[in-house]
Amino acid sequence: MRTQVVIVGGGPSGLLLSQLLYTRGIDSIVLERKTRDYVLGRIRAGVLEQGMMNLMAEAGVDARMRSEGIPHHGTLLAHNDTLFRIDFTKHTGTPVMVYGQTEVTRDLYDARAVWGGLTEFEVDGVEIHDFDRDAPFVTYHVRGGARRIDCDFVAGCDGFHGVSRASIPKTVRREYEKIYPFGWFGVLSETPPVAEELIYANSDRGFALCSMRNPQLSRYYIQCSISDKPEAWSDDTFWSELKRRIPCQHADQLVTGPSIEKSIAPLRSFVTEPMRWGRLFLCGDAAHIVPPTGAKGLNTAASDVHYLFEGLTRHYIDKDDKGLARYSEKALARVWKAERFSWWFSSIMHRFPDQSDFDLKMQRAELDVLRTSDAAQKALAENYVGLPY
Ligand code: APR
Ligand code: PHB
Repeated sequence: MRTQVVIVGGGPSGLLLSQLLYTRGIDSIVLERKTRDYVLGRIRAGVLEQGMMNLMAEAGVDARMRSEGIPHHGTLLAHNDTLFRIDFTKHTGTPVMVYGQTEVTRDLYDARAVWGGLTEFEVDGVEIHDFDRDAPFVTYHVRGGARRIDCDFVAGCDGFHGVSRASIPKTVRREYEKIYPFGWFGVLSETPPVAEELIYANSDRGFALCSMRNPQLSRYYIQCSISDKPEAWSDDTFWSELKRRIPCQHADQLVTGPSIEKSIAPLRSFVTEPMRWGRLFLCGDAAHIVPPTGAKGLNTAASDVHYLFEGLTRHYIDKDDKGLARYSEKALARVWKAERFSWWFSSIMHRFPDQSDFDLKMQRAELDVLRTSDAAQKALAENYVGLPY
């Protein structure tokens, strides 16, 4: 087989890139390790920046997001029972869109089915060859047979545990990592959200987040130990702990119900440089990871896809390789700003095991400055709604 771009990974990054390339008549094939249903079964964050919304519109897959998504013009921050609001629209003129990543992925797969995009599911043993030369190719196994696809470029959209990043020589890669000493225990419940906007809460008992997917589906998180297990938490234990971490005015209103999904995610900041080596380009979680506090995972994958789509389009249509040449530099410039915001927001909202009394005072002061300073709230709003591409 031959195509113009082989995309390793059928998550949001790979699917969005393939969809955008299709709109410009550029051929691609997506190689996905799992089944479509498995990919759609992943529960992930659900806040989209305007840049991601624009990309979905450009890809022609934004209809359901615009009809079912919930625009949020601000968010609530709490420090124990002190609650205040960050007004995104006042400070930036831009809301965010609450729309589950699972729904984004579903919309992309549904669009693929309409135009006949080729996705190889349940592939195994993907290897990327000769990407430091002009004729790369990818080999893999599927349905018991060995396959080879010759191509012009390879997009590594295969997430943190994929093969793409590891294909770049270790002597070339520079990796930066911070592991957080806690995780997020997340619960999905078919209950109405406790508030109309998200609540990020820093309490003496630890962090909590009240989010949602729609008016009948809520998503809650509490900071937990990295050694914690979902099965160690009954629904009642979770709800009572959540109530102790959010302002009492909301705790009293919280509608509880059975969890329909519960999972624990570790928190990590990670970046690999460069994001390009020869004709291999890394996108999304393959290149970087953020703690979910700032909802930057999918949104930073989106800006990678934007820069790579721009570069590939200029290559094929304008016969100009400047976009591809600058891909890594441009993508990383925005990645590091998202890493900074996610790290900063995590540092002021969570309780750290080794925090001194002074550290706690600094956290309180940070939150007091945020509560009282227009300039501080504007800075948070600009980063939360998404810095420009
Ligand atoms: N071969 C083929 N596919 C692979 C391989 C492999 N060797 N390794 C991983 N994959 C697939 C995974 O099964 C997954 O479906 O690549 C896909 C990567 O998707 P994500 O991990 O979702 O990463 P990405 O598409 O960059 O999306 C980033 O998703 O994980 C969240 O928090 C993350 O919001 C962020 C967004
Ligand atoms: C979610 O709805 O899952 C969510 C929202 C905001 C975040 C993280 C997760 O910062």
